[in-house]
This record gives sequence, C-alpha cells and structure tokens, in this order.
Amino acid sequence: MQHISSTLGVPDTTYVPRHVAIIMDGNGRWATKRHLPRVAGHTRGLDTVREIVQACAARGVQYLTLFAFSSENWRRPADEVSFLMRLFMTALRREVVRMHANNIRLRVVGDLARFSPRIQQMIKDAEARTAGNTGLTVTIAANYGGRWDLLQAMRKMLARAPMLDGESIDESMLAPHLAMAYAPEPDLFIRTGGEQRISNFLLWQLAYTELYFTDTFWPDFDAAELDKAFASYRQRERRFGRTSAQVVAPGLSGTA
Ligand code: IPE
Ligand code: IPE
Ligand code: MG
Repeated sequence: MQHISSTLGVPDTTYVPRHVAIIMDGNGRWATKRHLPRVAGHTRGLDTVREIVQACAARGVQYLTLFAFSSENWRRPADEVSFLMRLFMTALRREVVRMHANNIRLRVVGDLARFSPRIQQMIKDAEARTAGNTGLTVTIAANYGGRWDLLQAMRKMLARAPMLDGESIDESMLAPHLAMAYAPEPDLFIRTGGEQRISNFLLWQLAYTELYFTDTFWPDFDAAELDKAFASYRQRERRFGRTSAQVVAPGLSGTA
C-alpha cells in the first residue's frame, strides 16, 4: 500500500495516531536512581514494551515503532552491549509467541548484518511467523540510524538505476527504499527520559511528525502515560505548511 508523503501531499489526520514512534530512553537512570545496575533498567524496560504494545493495539494504533538500539549504542561498555543482545534474544523468543497470538506483525529494521547469525535467524523467523497478521505492526529499530537508512536507500536507488542523473532524482524514487517504506510516516513521536533530541532516529520520516517529550523514564512509562501523549496529540493542529484557516475549512482556499 502506498502512503501519502507529508511533503508531496497532505496526509489525513486521525483521532488516534496511526503510527507512533518511540525513543525508549531512561532505563539506565531509572536503575541508577534505585541503586541497581543499569541493566536492571533494560529488563524492566521490556515489561514496558509489553504494556505499550498491548495498549497501542487496544487503542487502534496501526504501527508502533520502538527504538531499541541505535547505531551509536555500540559505543557503550561491552558488558552492557552484550546484556542488551541477550535481552533482545529473550524478547524474540518470548514475546513473539505472545505477539503472534494477538495478531501482531513484527518487523525489525536496521543494519542487521552487525548482529550474530543466531540473532539474524531469530529475526527472520519472527518476521516470517507473524507476516500474515493483520493487527498492529510493531517495528523494532535495532542497530538503526537515520543516516544509515538514508544512505542504504540511496545505494539501493542507484543500484537499480546506475545511469540516473542527479537532476532527475525525486522524493518518490528514494522513499520506497527506506527501511520502513511499508509504513506511513509517524504521526506521533514520543521520547521518554527527559532528553529533547532525535538521536539519529527516523530522520526522513519525522518531517511532519508531532513531537512529545516526557521526563518519565521508560520503565515507569505506562498506558496512562501513553494516553497523556495521545491527549497532547489531539490538541495539535497539523498544518503541513498550510494556514490554520485552510485546515479548518479545507478546499475553500488554496490547494494541497
Ligand atoms: C534506553 O535507555 C535504552 C537503550 C539506549 C538501549 P538508556 O540505557 O539510554 O538509559 P539512560 O538514558 O542512560 O538513562
Ligand atoms: C537513543 O537513546 C537510542 C535508544 C533509545 C535505543 P540514547 O540514550 O542512546 O541517546 P543519547 O545518547 O542520549 O542521545
Ligand atoms: Mg539514554
């Protein structure tokens, strides 16, 4: 299915965001505050993932994208990285069964070549197993970086049309090669943990996404907090470059 690009057209706005993208941040600080090792926060963070997946499915969200590991997170201490890899495997083993039972489709995006063959196989299996599900699509961004995504998309575009001249390149030639081409652009971006930055998440796709930041650490984030973000989202006027009058009475003035 082809989704409307926010820069080529004006996407329609729905009461419940169709696509929610989350930077799940603050696990380490949540644990440190409790005098626990940082990784205890990651373990608790997985419980939050379960709750938010269920809450999004119940509210009719169609796509939920979770930033689990960035292309820059390899810079962390080796023991934290290997803990996160093991937790990722545990999640793939345990949660996928639950997701499948709930008609949830799982996708993983990022530079997966950097993961162990075992993890890569588990990802393939999980995606294949849930491919036919028609409920919420959960995307895990793992070893993902927005710049990596743009570069790999450009490479694919050029591989397909090596004689392409720069002048003829347009948005619709590049966009299908982005890792999340199957999803509409996020309507709502949430970052927990207090930082107000994108940290190399979906750089292209966040062009017109509504941004929501909360100080709540990810392990403390829950369905009630999600509803607060949704309530904030409903207050926003999504103009996509138009004037407020055009949003209120579309078709009376100007064009899309
Ligand atoms: C987010 O929590 C999880 C990952 C990046 C894997 P952090 O581990 O970044 O937690 P803080 O930001 O240090 O508190
Ligand atoms: C962003 O969190 C990445 C994930 C949540 C996976 P970080 O904790 O890595 O981001 P920075 O370093 O504070 O920007
Ligand atoms: Mg962090």
